[in-house]
Amino acid sequence: MLANKTIVLGITGGIAAYKVADLASKLTQAGARVEIIMTKSATEFITPLTFRSLTHRTVVTEMFNVNSEFSIGHVALATAADVIVIAPATANIVAKIAGGIADDMLSATVLATEAPVIVAPAMNVNMYQNPATQDNLAKLKARGFIFVGPGYGRLASGKIGMGRLTDIEEIIGTIKQVLGRSGDLAGKNIVVTAGGTQEAIDPVRYIGNRSSGKMGYAVAEAARDRGAKVTLITAPTALSKPVGVAVTPVTTAVQMKKAVVKAVAQTDVLIMVAAVADYQPKSVAKGKIKKETTGAGLTLELVKTPDILAEVKGDFIKVGFAAETEDIVANARKKLANKQLDIIAVNDVTSPDSGFGVDTNRVTLISHDGKVESLPLMSKREVADRILDKVVGMLTKKPQSQMRRGVS
Ligand code: CTP
Repeated sequence: MLANKTIVLGITGGIAAYKVADLASKLTQAGARVEIIMTKSATEFITPLTFRSLTHRTVVTEMFNVNSEFSIGHVALATAADVIVIAPATANIVAKIAGGIADDMLSATVLATEAPVIVAPAMNVNMYQNPATQDNLAKLKARGFIFVGPGYGRLASGKIGMGRLTDIEEIIGTIKQVLGRSGDLAGKNIVVTAGGTQEAIDPVRYIGNRSSGKMGYAVAEAARDRGAKVTLITAPTALSKPVGVAVTPVTTAVQMKKAVVKAVAQTDVLIMVAAVADYQPKSVAKGKIKKETTGAGLTLELVKTPDILAEVKGDFIKVGFAAETEDIVANARKKLANKQLDIIAVNDVTSPDSGFGVDTNRVTLISHDGKVESLPLMSKREVADRILDKVVGMLTKKPQSQMRRGVS
């Protein structure tokens, strides 16, 4: 989604400028056209050559440089930008923008642009907390500037406090979210579930499954990047929280059901990617089960958990996932019918390149109209987008799916 987008990356004079080399590199690798503007102070911390080497483009450092293609029409970048990102943003640039000052290429570009501007502040904690800076930040927020960070932690001064440049991944997530605002899911609410639920046996042990959460997180991020307002209901995973997505953490199937029921009250789409445990221990031992109390073995009595996907009903598109090991399409068709789904994505979890833990997946998509589409091996993100393509198609024909379920 970053491919062919023009991202103007403004760098100001803070020590965190060195971290932004990584940002410039990642955005360029993702196919974006990254135009760098550095303030004079920024060039004291890191050289323009670093950014030129990473982006393969001219780095603008002065407003009136006859050798730069952008200096003559000094608002050229303001017009070309799909988004402007200022990272790190010092207290000084924040103050200049808040005051409408345009005395260098970056502040002039920001003043002249109609593109969204993302600001990633990084500064000394006292400068950050100073009422002048706080007033300026509040002014910019009120004008629609998008802020990411600052983070809390150890600052260059040695002090601990607010003022660290936020993580580069956080900035990239925000850029994607902002660029996706006009995507084909703009204005739609999507609820996604992910991860494998954990059903407690005692305070230390649980029954779990091999789900890594990667497929569900990929769906949540893809929907965000297409403009949707995403709620991600997630069982425990080792993945970091996606930026720009409302995350509800849960542990058990029962908790997940409660969260899903609440979230679908206002949704256009539910995509259940989570591997929900089908059984939970009938009772949870209060204390740790001790070996000496169980004799030669331990028998656990399990009871069924709620089938969330089958039980939640309403005026929204329902997408399910099925992990199968045999009779893949036939089993998935049964689930599509039994759980009244619009789409089911089924994968053979015995295959090493699809299923649990890996970044790729090979799925077959079956729609309620009987259409079967076997997708080749692709990244989980691509699979997510192919599912969302189908969802978008169905959303435009929504009355049909409402009729099918008898929703008035
Ligand atoms: N699902 C659910 N609640 C459950 C079990 C599954 O909502 N208690 C959802 C999953 O999130 C998935 C779909 O139902 O989207 C199919 O899950 P799967 O485990 O393949 O099917 P089950 O109905 O559990 O059937 P089985 O395990 O017998 O194959």
